This record gives sequence, C-alpha cells and structure tokens, in this order.
Amino acid sequence: MIKERSTFVTNELVELLRQLDHDTFLHGMRVGELSYKFSRYLDLTLRQTNQLHFIGYVHDIGKLKIPNSIVTKRGPLTDFEWNLMKNHTIYGHDLLKNLSYHNDILNAVRYHHENIDGTGYEGLYSNEIDFNSKIIRIVDSFDALTHDRSYRKKCSIEISLKKIQKLSGTVYDQDLIKEFTKFICKLY
Ligand SMILES: [Fe+2]
Repeated sequence: MIKERSTFVTNELVELLRQLDHDTFLHGMRVGELSYKFSRYLDLTLRQTNQLHFIGYVHDIGKLKIPNSIVTKRGPLTDFEWNLMKNHTIYGHDLLKNLSYHNDILNAVRYHHENIDGTGYEGLYSNEIDFNSKIIRIVDSFDALTHDRSYRKKCSIEISLKKIQKLSGTVYDQDLIKEFTKFICKLY
C-alpha cells in the first residue's frame, strides 16, 4: 500500500519547485516560513504547523502550467491573462493530487484565493473555506505587499498591515486578522 504523503518533500516535488520562476519560488519560501511562524504563534498542533509550512512553499506551484510570459509579465495583466492565471489553484491541486498529497494540503492549494464574502476565485463563503486556506490567504497577501512586484513597489510593514486590516471580514477572516496583527507587531 502506498502511504499517503503528508508534508514530505519528494524528489518529484523538488524537481517541480525548481522549475518555477525565481520570484514565485522565493515568494513560496517566504510564505512557508511566515505561515510556520504564525502557526507557532497560534499554538496550532505540530501536524497543522508542519502542513502550513509546507503549503506555503507549494501554494502557487500550479503557476508551472501558466505560460511563463504571463507569470513573469512586467505590468498589469489583461483580463484574458488574469483568467488564465486564476487556473493556477486548480492546476496546483491536480499536480499535488497526482503526487498523492493529503487532502488538507490539496484543499489549501486550491482555495487559497477564496474570500470570506464569496468574491474569491471559486466563490466559496466564509464557513465553506478551510482554516489552512484562510491562513495562507492572509500570509500570501502580506508577503506580496511587503515585497516588490514587477508592476509596483513594496509597501512598509505598517501600510501593508493597514491594507489587510481594511479587508478584514470581506476578504480575510476577522478573527485571524486580529491574531495576525498581534503576531506581526510582536515579530517586528
Ligand atoms: Fe496563488
């Protein structure tokens, strides 16, 4: 019987991560590290902490299936390109499913762009979104805001936190934003 993979980084996975463009790869590493620290702060179980660490690394792995010219495009994407880009959550889910990863991981890779008010990629509402996805949603945005993107400059920690807080209860989970705010203030 093949043992279901939880958070093992296999050779196949390393090979896939190596093919990601440099910025996406580094972003994943940072989201993994910050998710790990936030999970520790929240005093989550070791299993969930390890899962979130891992999910951070791989959450955008589906971008491998998006044309590189779109992933690395300097400047805003057209509507057509955005619609293609949005498929990265499903592509990532399918890639990791083929490598037999656990459902908790597959769900977070698929639903890390869902919003509490149902306006995310697949229109899931608050209680339909799993906890891991809600965490990655916040950490992913925070990392994106605090680092330069091809089409905009990074914001300070303070401004980034304010931008995220503004969307508490619509995009992000309210309780988690309260905790994330305390966590970031303690961290910096
Ligand atoms: Fe993503």
